Amino acid sequence: MATLLETLRRQTPMLSVGVLTADWMNLQPQLSILESAGVPLLHIDVMDGAFCPAMTFGPPIIQAIQTSLFKDVHLMIENPLEKLDSYVQAGADMITVQVESTKHPHRVLQALGGMTNANDPARGIIRGAALNPGTPVEALDPLMEELEMILLLAVNPGWGGQKFIPSTRRRIDAVRQRIAKSGGNILLCVDGGIKRDNLVEVAQMGAEIIVSGSAVFDGKDPAGNIAYLQKQLGKG
Ligand code: DX5
Ligand code: ZN
Repeated sequence: MATLLETLRRQTPMLSVGVLTADWMNLQPQLSILESAGVPLLHIDVMDGAFCPAMTFGPPIIQAIQTSLFKDVHLMIENPLEKLDSYVQAGADMITVQVESTKHPHRVLQALGGMTNANDPARGIIRGAALNPGTPVEALDPLMEELEMILLLAVNPGWGGQKFIPSTRRRIDAVRQRIAKSGGNILLCVDGGIKRDNLVEVAQMGAEIIVSGSAVFDGKDPAGNIAYLQKQLGKG
């Protein structure tokens, strides 16, 4: 059976749709829209009010979300090491930690590497390391053997609906080169500020997983939005 990494590798570039700005009191029909549109990943932004000012949700809500999409959990929290297990138990398929959130990013990724996907042990858990826009990409160098995904934030963490920071373009390029040099099977993800007008550009720059939240959940037409974005990626 294919691991999640192998499954995703075959579908790149792909969307991971962020639920931060979804209508949470009416979540299920919105998830059905994503499922029917063939979106593979659901991006779940966990904020603890400490690493970033906003607070969102934790393991019980993640566990309660009923979907066939893989759960792509982005932890923007302090002390991730001691909380990893609760996110794994809640059914996270991918767990991404901010390198700035811990003194021990290597140890966090190592610990994740020893954990088993609670949905299906054969699937594996994709381990991601995320960088804030102000963190030098060199921070990734000692971590390359302990991860399957690198997430570049194209906005500062904390809010949906922000503008794509232009220096991200240079950073995508630098990370792409690092991945090629490492020879590892590592997915490149870009998160924040991705809309109808820059999705294709970001994919062409080499992003393999593209997080888009408010461009889908804009309070108006999620079905129309997702159809448009999927088509732009050649999947409509
Ligand atoms: C930023 C989050 C992003 C964000 C994406 O803190 O990590 O995932 O919610 O949302 P949009 O697509 O609205 O920028
Ligand atoms: Zn995110």
